Amino acid sequence: MDQQFKDGSDFPIFLDNNDPLGHFRHRFYLKKDTIYMCGNSLGLASRDAEAAILKAMQKWKEEGVKIWNVDDNKYFLYSAELAKIMSGLVGVDADEIAVSASTTVNIHQAVSTFYKPTKDRYKILVDNINFPTDKYAIDSQVRLKGYEPKEAVKIVKCRDSLMDEDDIIEAMTSDVALILLPTVYYRSAQILNMAKVTKAAKSKGIIIGWDLSHAVGSIEIDLKSLDIDFAVWCTYKYLNGGPGSTSALYINRKHFKNLPGLAGWLGNKPETQFQLLQDFDHQQDANGWLIGTPHLLSMAGLEGSLKMFNEAGMANLRKKSLHITAYLMFLVDTKLASYGFTIGNPRADDKRGGHVCLEHDEGYRISIALKARGVVPDFRDPNVIRLTPTALYTSYEEVYEIVEIILDIVKNETYKKISQKRNLVV
Ligand SMILES: Cc1ncc(COP(=O)(O)O)c(C=O)c1O
Repeated sequence: MDQQFKDGSDFPIFLDNNDPLGHFRHRFYLKKDTIYMCGNSLGLASRDAEAAILKAMQKWKEEGVKIWNVDDNKYFLYSAELAKIMSGLVGVDADEIAVSASTTVNIHQAVSTFYKPTKDRYKILVDNINFPTDKYAIDSQVRLKGYEPKEAVKIVKCRDSLMDEDDIIEAMTSDVALILLPTVYYRSAQILNMAKVTKAAKSKGIIIGWDLSHAVGSIEIDLKSLDIDFAVWCTYKYLNGGPGSTSALYINRKHFKNLPGLAGWLGNKPETQFQLLQDFDHQQDANGWLIGTPHLLSMAGLEGSLKMFNEAGMANLRKKSLHITAYLMFLVDTKLASYGFTIGNPRADDKRGGHVCLEHDEGYRISIALKARGVVPDFRDPNVIRLTPTALYTSYEEVYEIVEIILDIVKNETYKKISQKRNLVV
């Protein structure tokens, strides 16, 4: 697509008319008079996800406990079934993915598997701007091994809200045993150079895992070529699996023989699973890292929504995402910059993920004013309004319209009537 953008209300209509992915939008539940810009937090419901959930519900109604056996045990083996449809999005083999638990539990699962501290190598390296659940999990994992986070968790600090890969590499000292970092930052949308950081970690014999929560479904990922040790990601953001849909864990096949840190009966080999023996005999692939009974109704939405990603193709989705976010940045630069707005995400295509990080000193009150005008963004302290035009369901016309609404809010200062008191969920 042409990157030369023009101002004017006809231009987004032209872009929509020429958008090869525009038809996917009609498969989502979009509300009239609402512009949804929050797919980075919770993706919208689609008819495809709904159909898969209703199908599972129907099977439960009809079959009771036999639901686990229908369609060749499809639902009992649902993790493997979903892994097959999801593996192309991250470039790995399906048997390297377990669809299980929440992202935070999967961090605990992976770290408890791979963190084997010794007297000389006992530190875990993290950064200071990742979504904090990762740090909470790491802190508790080092405590479980008898350390205090202050001595065993090494924190790389960002510069001006962005992370420098060279700072991370410099922090890879010989006492570091494991590294956990995000691929795309939740606030700034910065993409870390996974290849560069992973290569450095491997050259120093450090186990490395990545949190792909803001990356899967938003950018192209090829984990095979990177040869990382593990990864985790949620499925309710860009993948539109539904509120709290089950998360994913990648285990590099070279680790299949490792004993899972958190064992559970679902991870046992199928041959002996229903013998219910007292000794855990783990399956020698990512399924060995499954813990308990599949969260069927939290997985079904994903079956429907993932098919759309495969139909659209991740390269096409990324291309549109880059284009539509570039259009949004163009409009911010030309119309909003003089009202105190700045763009906090990196500008280069290979350095930015799927959302635009719009910064303003009055970001919180403006985000509330936007909600009152039918726009759904989210806000992250102290000053970030996250706007996510998603490739599958956002139109260029909507992007044009939200910038007009923001302009109206700041010109008329309507946000000044709003309280500074924060809502529980922002
Ligand atoms: C990077 C990252 N990791 C993890 C999570 C949340 O994990 P969980 O699925 O356990 O709620 C988020 C939530 O936004 C996130 O941004």
